[in-house]
Amino acid sequence: MRLAGKIALITGGAGGIGRETGLLFVREGACVALADFDEGAGHAALAELAAAADDAAERVQFVKVDVSDPASVEAMVEAVIARFGTLDILINNAGITRDSMLSRMTLDQWHNVIDVNLSGVFYCTKYAAPYLVAKGKGRIINTSSIVGVQGNIGQTNYAATKAGVIGMTRTWAKELGYKGVTVNAVAPGYIETGMVAKVPEKVLQSMVERVPLRRLGQPADIAKAYLYLASDDAAYVNGAVLEVNGGLSI
Ligand code: NAI
Repeated sequence: MRLAGKIALITGGAGGIGRETGLLFVREGACVALADFDEGAGHAALAELAAAADDAAERVQFVKVDVSDPASVEAMVEAVIARFGTLDILINNAGITRDSMLSRMTLDQWHNVIDVNLSGVFYCTKYAAPYLVAKGKGRIINTSSIVGVQGNIGQTNYAATKAGVIGMTRTWAKELGYKGVTVNAVAPGYIETGMVAKVPEKVLQSMVERVPLRRLGQPADIAKAYLYLASDDAAYVNGAVLEVNGGLSI
């Protein structure tokens, strides 16, 4: 039980990686708040988490949130505090893509992705961090991407946000480290979730051929990286960007 008694808030908790992380964290003893825009998927994920361990039903919560709306984010944090009384781990995992080549990218596509993937991470951390700081101990884990490190054709908006997440991670690692809160990022490669399901099969196949492990990542591969960074094992890891991509970046 690597997270016994810990309270974790996972945004994008109804999606592929978020749901899997919730399941793993519940099995490791944490109380888990899944927060997501998608209410239907959120309640389905909540039911799965509630069945993941004997006492899990008392340790899980779903909160509807739009991370791009600061008032909604503030209400999300308040709902988690009202339910569990405190917060130990924030995982800024919600994210979207709106892909287009630069010449065709609309201003809406640009702003939508900035609002969710970049401003959303800022809002969630701004409203949640004071609770971690007040305890003098906590973990913030942000979700970047290989695309934030290397760039990618058709993803100007997404690459900008995921590179920005690395900048915020390192800034907060410096601002919050001496207050007992570590801040790290995970940069996944291509993971088999709804997000990657939008990529044409031919493009996916050529990606897999470039991965030294010759497979896409699974949500559990990222959930385990989040678990490591959230656990006591990572006590001295701060400001790191953990690349989990099967070797695609080498
Ligand atoms: P997903 O699409 O399965 O899950 C994303 C979740 O975020 C969804 O449940 C969605 O409803 C939620 N969400 C979207 N907008 C929201 C908003 N405004 N407020 C609250 N929730 C919102 O995608 P996946 O793969 O699980 O992605 C999780 C994170 O991992 C994202 O940040 C993504 O950018 C990142 N990532 C994913 C990779 C992949 O290959 N799947 C690769 C690199 C990074």
